[in-house]
Amino acid sequence: MPQHFHLNDYTIYTGDLRDTFPDWLRERGYVQVILVTDKNTHRHCLPVFLEKAGLPGTIPVIEIPAGEQHKNLDTCGLIWQGMLDIRLDRKALVVNLGGGVIGDMGGFCAATWKRGVDYVQAPTTLLAMTDAAIGGKLAIDFQGIKNTIGVFRNPAAVFVDPVFLQTLEKRELRSGLAEVLKHALIGDPELWRLCTAGFQVHGGSIHGLGSPWYLEASIAVKTRIVQEDPYEKGLRALLNYGHTVGHALESYFLESAEPLTHGEAVAIGMICETWLDAPEKAIGIAEMIFRVFSHRRIPESAFPELWNLMLQDKKNTAGQIRMAVPGEASFTMSILEPTPEKIKDSFLFYNSLTPNP
Ligand SMILES: NC(=O)c1ccc[n+]([C@@H]2O[C@H](COP(=O)([O-])OP(=O)(O)OC[C@H]3O[C@@H](n4cnc5c(N)ncnc54)[C@H](O)[C@@H]3O)[C@@H](O)[C@H]2O)c1
Ligand SMILES: [Zn+2]
Repeated sequence: MPQHFHLNDYTIYTGDLRDTFPDWLRERGYVQVILVTDKNTHRHCLPVFLEKAGLPGTIPVIEIPAGEQHKNLDTCGLIWQGMLDIRLDRKALVVNLGGGVIGDMGGFCAATWKRGVDYVQAPTTLLAMTDAAIGGKLAIDFQGIKNTIGVFRNPAAVFVDPVFLQTLEKRELRSGLAEVLKHALIGDPELWRLCTAGFQVHGGSIHGLGSPWYLEASIAVKTRIVQEDPYEKGLRALLNYGHTVGHALESYFLESAEPLTHGEAVAIGMICETWLDAPEKAIGIAEMIFRVFSHRRIPESAFPELWNLMLQDKKNTAGQIRMAVPGEASFTMSILEPTPEKIKDSFLFYNSLTPNP
């Protein structure tokens, strides 16, 4: 049964957007509607979206190149130029149809256009549905540094229709699942239990992913945290669980022949960070994670560089690494300040794990 989540001044609608979007749009009475897509969502998602939304094919669409490497000022220039070309009014609506890159950048461009026009998030990746589209954080990368320039601004609404997951590459889907598992560990033991029962790996493809029964429970956790801490003053740090180690691994392997996806890196990060807090617990988490993700050895020669990458994390101060991991009860956290030696041991622990065949 589709659910609606109210988050401060906006609603996150889940389920078939046919049932919600057209009425919502009519009630709002925007003078103009435009869409922002990337090459892939233009091809795979736009026809479905227009049909479900009841919008004509003549609606203006700004298409940008796909990929994180385009989440920068140059591409914002393209989007703002598109807005200028169609004389986008302040009373218009911008619909971001895509993954987290489109959501973050389309949102940022809308938030800054004439000091802000309304925007809607229509996420099309699992990561965006469960994480990026919720919470009003908008940013672009600058000089290669992630999410350096940005603002907080809430969307007018979010429409999460799982139909779009059908065309998403399996590796992207799996990657988004790391955030679902993260949310389960942060705030929903029942979701964790269901994931443990629900995800089975057969010859590299995941059974249990097809129908995204885990979507709403996952959104509920993110929504609750953002509700309690919209401006990241406290509890929202918990959403970064797995990401201190995860981001370092993601950057490190970016240079390798086989880069890790964000979710693959975060999955390893959750194992290592949990081990730093409670080694017993890390074993159980690892067991679940290896149902979804394969094991990727971390070379010992990489340890010093990984430490340096972690130190660059903006949440750290004066040579000390700080990370939030889930506490005993749901929606509580412990703050860890591990030494380089401890971190190294957590990598060795991870390397020592042998996933189920
Ligand atoms: N604002 C936040 O709170 C927040 C939170 C987490 C992540 N993020 C940001 O999200 C971004 C990552 O998002 P992402 O993983 O969705 O990446 P993405 O937007 O690059 O999408 C991944 C790939 O899938 C393609 N794609 C998207 N939807 C598709 C579909 N339905 N069918 C086929 N192909 C499709 C895209 O074109 C792209 O090539 C990062 O930039 C990250 O910083 C933001
Ligand atoms: Zn993440």
